Amino acid sequence: MKASIILLPGDGIGPEIVAQARLVLENVASQFGHEFGFASHPIGGIAIDEFGDPLPQATIDACKTSDAIMLGAVGGPKWDDPSAKTRPEAGLLKIRKELGLFANLRPIRLFAELVDASPLKREIIEGTDILFLRELTGGIYFGESGRSGSGKDEAAFQSMIYSVGEVERIVRLAAKAAQGRDGRLTSVDKANVLEPSRLWRQTAARVMADEFPDVKYDVVLVDAMAMHLINRPKDFDVVVTGNMFGDILTDAASMLPGSLGMLPSASLGDGGPGLYEPIHGSAPDIAGKGIANPLATILAAAMMLRHSLNLNAEAEAIEAAVQQVLADGLRTADIARGGEATSTEAMGAAVVQRLAGAQV
Ligand code: NAD
Ligand code: IPM
Ligand code: MN
Repeated sequence: MKASIILLPGDGIGPEIVAQARLVLENVASQFGHEFGFASHPIGGIAIDEFGDPLPQATIDACKTSDAIMLGAVGGPKWDDPSAKTRPEAGLLKIRKELGLFANLRPIRLFAELVDASPLKREIIEGTDILFLRELTGGIYFGESGRSGSGKDEAAFQSMIYSVGEVERIVRLAAKAAQGRDGRLTSVDKANVLEPSRLWRQTAARVMADEFPDVKYDVVLVDAMAMHLINRPKDFDVVVTGNMFGDILTDAASMLPGSLGMLPSASLGDGGPGLYEPIHGSAPDIAGKGIANPLATILAAAMMLRHSLNLNAEAEAIEAAVQQVLADGLRTADIARGGEATSTEAMGAAVVQRLAGAQV
């Protein structure tokens, strides 16, 4: 098949990891007889530097006419001034909104080979397999914000808004995902305090009762969920939650497989191109050193093949190649945990090499 893929490398380690994912995708294309076209566009800090805009219109236009989008990461200390008129992160929020990518799928998959890379005990994490569905275009991230007053009276606000329609569509998607997995769905909110969470809880309960009586459904408050995730991760199948809670809980959940550098994500809407990215950020502390873990981005490339291009065998081939490099003992510094570490490039090359050896 032919597919046009937009690359948005962004800032920090973004370009380093996207380069490796691209090599993997190119290898898949040649091995399986596909034609993938790639075009890179600016987003984030580098786009601010060049165009004064974290998401230039040309980048939006290119994304809208593509089949799928791969993003590295945006942001860094250079653009962190709190009084700056725009920020790299605004570009990421805008592309999600422009493309209507309301559903962020974040699978927490544990590779058996990495059980010892996790700071948690083997008996707690072994067998963990959770799919988070994070609502991505609503909630506090997109609420009205502003400042008023001055001096000690200066104040800032940001409102959290969820509509019934926004909750229904993400809960439906999560429930359908649960039907295709272990049939269990947990909705996470803060309904004991927040009004939007109470609307979320009522709406989710109605959708589940009316449309998904076959899915085992429960609700957990977000603070308790942070604890349950670390204490009994195996008890969860699909978890659905709002924008900010999903952001925080999935970074915490990255310690189950052992590193933020292992978790991919897919952002999907109602048709149109999906956006694929690691869940981590631009890692300014290690940018330019050639030591970042490219596997989250490579696994995001597998999600792209599966969800946007309908190439399941190819997605599985990438995942099997990743598993193989781990089985062969290769570890970037984040998962080597003091042991011998391989570079970003060597890790990407190893995945490509295992792919080439795979049965087609
Ligand atoms: P971060 O995710 O960039 O890094 C957190 C820690 O994890 C750092 O120690 C980093 O070195 C490590 N890490 C992250 N990815 C890694 C990888 N692939 N391999 C090895 N180690 C890895 O979070 P942060 O430091 O809080 O944020 C840095 C910048 O990234 C901020 O500007 C933030 O806004 C931005 N950010 C962007 C995205 C995105 O583009 N989707 C996501 C999160 C944060
Ligand atoms: C993520 C990031 C982003 C988010 C930021 C950079 C806007 O943390 O993709 O998880 O909070 O959604
Ligand atoms: Mn995040």
